[in-house]
Amino acid sequence: MKWALFLPLAFAIPGSAVVRLHCSQLVTQRLDPLVDPGMMPSSHVHQIVGGNSFNATMDPKKNMPEESTCTTCQYADDFSNYWTAVLYFRAQNGSYKRVPQLGNNQFRNATGGLTVYYMQDAIYDSTQKSKVTAFQPGFRMFVGDIFARTLAEAGRFRQLTYTCLDEFITREPELIAFPKRRCKEGIMTSLRFPTCWDGKNLDSPDHMSHMSYPETGTFESGGPCPATHPVRTSQVMFEVVWDTKPFNGLEWPADGSNPFVWSFGDATGYANHADYVFGWKGDALQKILDTPCYFNCDSVGLKLQSIAEMNNCTQKPVIDEDIDGWLDVLPGGYHAEYAPISLQ
Ligand SMILES: *[C@@H]1O[C@H](CO)[C@@H](O)[C@H](O)[C@H]1NC(C)=O
Ligand SMILES: *[C@@H]1O[C@H](CO)[C@@H](O)[C@H](O)[C@H]1NC(C)=O
Ligand SMILES: *[C@@H]1O[C@H](CO)[C@@H](O)[C@H](O)[C@H]1NC(C)=O
Ligand SMILES: *[C@@H]1O[C@H](CO)[C@@H](O)[C@H](O)[C@H]1NC(C)=O
Repeated sequence: MKWALFLPLAFAIPGSAVVRLHCSQLVTQRLDPLVDPGMMPSSHVHQIVGGNSFNATMDPKKNMPEESTCTTCQYADDFSNYWTAVLYFRAQNGSYKRVPQLGNNQFRNATGGLTVYYMQDAIYDSTQKSKVTAFQPGFRMFVGDIFARTLAEAGRFRQLTYTCLDEFITREPELIAFPKRRCKEGIMTSLRFPTCWDGKNLDSPDHMSHMSYPETGTFESGGPCPATHPVRTSQVMFEVVWDTKPFNGLEWPADGSNPFVWSFGDATGYANHADYVFGWKGDALQKILDTPCYFNCDSVGLKLQSIAEMNNCTQKPVIDEDIDGWLDVLPGGYHAEYAPISLQ
């Protein structure tokens, strides 16, 4: 998929938007209001971006734009929270060190964070013809399986991938497991959520079953949504850049295994996952989705923040623990698992 090399052709007028926005880091700590609501700390370390009302408990009925006083996202009206687990490096002596994040291409001055896309059709389709329904207040979703340790288990999900950045702008190939070699400019994870909503539930017990992949084909091929999940939404995608460069010069495991480990112990990469809590103000998201634009949707008239303003919105961790030193054990008590947890 060479979409990064595609530029919208001058004569291809999109009908709606591919919105690309960056969000700087809000906080990195063990909180997870979606999967472990109320738990302080939650099971494993996350990196979180978006509105600063992020907290251990996030009542779907609360109005995030009203509760936040700032957001780390480029659009000042986007108080959503977006988060993923974090990566650790495991040294030969068994100690762990957190892998820092970088601002994505064109957002190098952002304090880490992640880039979010909302697309109506395949990202490389500069016409973006589909009309989609924006998410509603209280909507949230999860994608992935923290217990997946095999390719078959990871295969339930589409497009939760890794790219070995030989150059900062490398965008292919996309791998399902951790890259097995040193990546010159870091590792990028790309996480795409399902795109068919049941039209009724803002959430579900597993935070996934109110959403579905298309019944046949793919989002990219315009596959239809199943009757159980008839509402086509935009595809939400995160890109997260992990700065593995500082670890390329250190000794890696002698047996050739990859030294990068998710904060909950997965060293295979199959348990890549992501969380989303919608929090755009009013109809701002629907407005931007309905406006023809490709990547830089400045013309929509929504207020854009500078990188300095985005970086200026931060939260103090409420969990008091060391997540950044050389650690004997991952926060929460996890150790690197290089193989499936249970025999298949
Ligand atoms: C976060 O949750 C805690 C515990 O429920 C509460 O005491 C605190 O006021 C909340 N903080 C914010 C910023 O909402
Ligand atoms: C383990 O190795 C790392 C990297 O070489 C080093 O910085 C760290 O101090 C070591 N930890 C221990 C406990 O020896
Ligand atoms: C990033 O910051 C540097 C140093 O402050 C500045 O010179 C540069 O113009 C900034 N780049 C962008 C894209 O904002
Ligand atoms: C950063 O936030 C502080 C406190 O809210 C504010 O006084 C300051 O003007 C902000 N700076 C920027 C660059 O937004």
